[in-house]
Amino acid sequence: MTKEKRASWSGSLAFVLAASASAVGLGNLWRFPYLAAKYGGGVFIAVYLILSLTLGFTLLVTEIALGRYSRQSQLTAFRQLGHPRWNFLGVLSTVVPLFILPYYNVIGGWVVKYFAAYAKMVSGGGGMGDPRAFYDSFISAPWDPFVCMGLFTVATCAVILVGVKNGIEKANLVMMPVLLAMACGIAVYVAALPGSAAGIRFYLVPDFSSCDNIGKVVLGAMGQMFYSLSLAMGIMITYGSYMRRCDSVSKASVRIVAADTFVAVLSGFMIIPVVVMFSGSEGTRAAIDAGPGLMFVTLPKVFASLGPAGLWIGFLFFVLVLFAALTSAISMTEACVASVCDFFRARRSVSVAAVCVWSLALGAVSAFGYGRWADFRPCGLPALEFFDTSMNVLTPVVAALICVFVGWVLRPKRILAECRRDGGNVGFALFYAVMVKFVAPVLVLAILASEVCRIFGIGGWAI
Ligand code: PHE
Repeated sequence: MTKEKRASWSGSLAFVLAASASAVGLGNLWRFPYLAAKYGGGVFIAVYLILSLTLGFTLLVTEIALGRYSRQSQLTAFRQLGHPRWNFLGVLSTVVPLFILPYYNVIGGWVVKYFAAYAKMVSGGGGMGDPRAFYDSFISAPWDPFVCMGLFTVATCAVILVGVKNGIEKANLVMMPVLLAMACGIAVYVAALPGSAAGIRFYLVPDFSSCDNIGKVVLGAMGQMFYSLSLAMGIMITYGSYMRRCDSVSKASVRIVAADTFVAVLSGFMIIPVVVMFSGSEGTRAAIDAGPGLMFVTLPKVFASLGPAGLWIGFLFFVLVLFAALTSAISMTEACVASVCDFFRARRSVSVAAVCVWSLALGAVSAFGYGRWADFRPCGLPALEFFDTSMNVLTPVVAALICVFVGWVLRPKRILAECRRDGGNVGFALFYAVMVKFVAPVLVLAILASEVCRIFGIGGWAI
């Protein structure tokens, strides 16, 4: 039990890069394009932009400032701020990443598998055959999903073990620019393909007929925004706790929202036009309704139809997805490791080992959930989907409670004072107070209600 010196980012850019790396993940690359296509293209994009610039910005500022103010990760931050009765909120926001991380790593493992398959194909090895059969036989294989998840988990933990400055910062410094360059390159390539215009229109032009209920669009966009900005999981509190007092919280928040939204919109340009070209508008709707199949089944089919260039596009695409998933998993692992360190005053290496073992053990339940342990179906769902659904309920609860805590107990002025400390502009003070006290809790509870409706199959509001 040693007290190690608290780490800090080397500068504002490192912080923005790390937080953006956490934000940009599977949510941007797979979930955003799929939701946009489902909820009326331009309508969804417009609603998402408005929400992320208002609500997303507010919540991001709140979490980052809470972290920097307390200099603690989420598990101990609330006690440190002099409100021990709100400690349960720290516990809740530690439980969330502890349960999300293992199954996020399982999907990370799927990406490793696809990356390896494409690497083999571009280097002249055998093809993957029929993408549907490949996907089905992989996720139900006896060991493959677990082994791939293990590789992904160990790679993530290795970066964390090296530390905040040398590990996380350096990994992001390499992966994020490569990711951005590849995303822009693929989007430009797709736009130049003959016949892509119809797909771009499908993606961007508002289609009011497929979003008869604007409430659903707003809720869908809001849920997506939470997930995409990595909110309510203690990550931004932990990352904020490593932030220097001279770097601006508000400027960093604007940049993180901008980077995350940019990549989300860009991935629509990569994915939707090729799917529309391949399957037509109706086929695209069907592919979109198939959920995870879009990335792991439909896209490989599309890449195969593009000939040899398609193989390379597929390879680059899965490198991009792998980097995005790794940097997000790194942030989640860090939030768990930091909590263990702060709570038990444990060494970083011990905490990393503990979190790694936990992820492998709990991840096994999801990894084997379509194969050898397929009979284990909590609430009638495969384990991975059970965890995903439970977390979709827990996240808005945590977010709403954080807003209530900051709005009514800690008071917005404390957060604004933290933002003023770095010399940042707080021209948004009134807006912030109204958002955090009234608008955010109400909107967040609306997502919760809709999630509950979806689970119990009640009403037309479930998204
Ligand atoms: N924000 C990430 C994404 O868009 C997902 C994520 C969620 C990352 C929670 C970390 C924590 O995919």
